[in-house]
Amino acid sequence: MEPIQIKNPDTINEAAKEFIRQMGDATVFAFKGQMGAGKTTFIKAICEELGVTDVINSPTFAIVNEYRSDTTAELIYHFDFYRIHTIQEACDIGASDYFDSGALCFIEWPEKIEPLLPDDTVRVDITEQEDGSRSVTIHNYPSTGILP
Ligand SMILES: Nc1ncnc2c1ncn2[C@@H]1O[C@H](COP(=O)(O)OP(=O)(O)OP(=O)(O)O)[C@@H](O)[C@H]1O
Ligand SMILES: [Mg+2]
Repeated sequence: MEPIQIKNPDTINEAAKEFIRQMGDATVFAFKGQMGAGKTTFIKAICEELGVTDVINSPTFAIVNEYRSDTTAELIYHFDFYRIHTIQEACDIGASDYFDSGALCFIEWPEKIEPLLPDDTVRVDITEQEDGSRSVTIHNYPSTGILP
């Protein structure tokens, strides 16, 4: 699959729609990218396209934020593990239970909890290009995904 390009903030909702088309049946998505790469911004756009109308903020202080899609009534979980220090902290908030729940989980800083990620986690890399645009690459679809 070609990376999804976000040329500028005006096209982010189009990019989010394309991302959603490529999600298949996967539920756990690990977003890697440098600080400021645009993880929160893109996850926010995806959630908006999925029908979330709640305020979507970086969950940095909460570790996990819960949203509900107004269109499907499905729950969506948005994690930011940047500030955790040990894997035990993620265990304590029940991270694995969320990942196994079947609800959509979008994860920032998955590097911090690598051993807790399910085998079928979809890896997403976001990089900022020299011109300020962002490139989103989706890796290894789980076997349950509808796309190759
Ligand atoms: N596609 C984009 N085009 C232009 N600017 C963007 C884009 N995505 C994000 N930005 C800008 O980059 C900055 C950082 O974005 P964001 O907070 O989403 O990054 P992040 O990857 O979540 O960072 P962190 O690792 O600190 O959580 C913000 O000022 C945001 O407006
Ligand atoms: Mg962020």
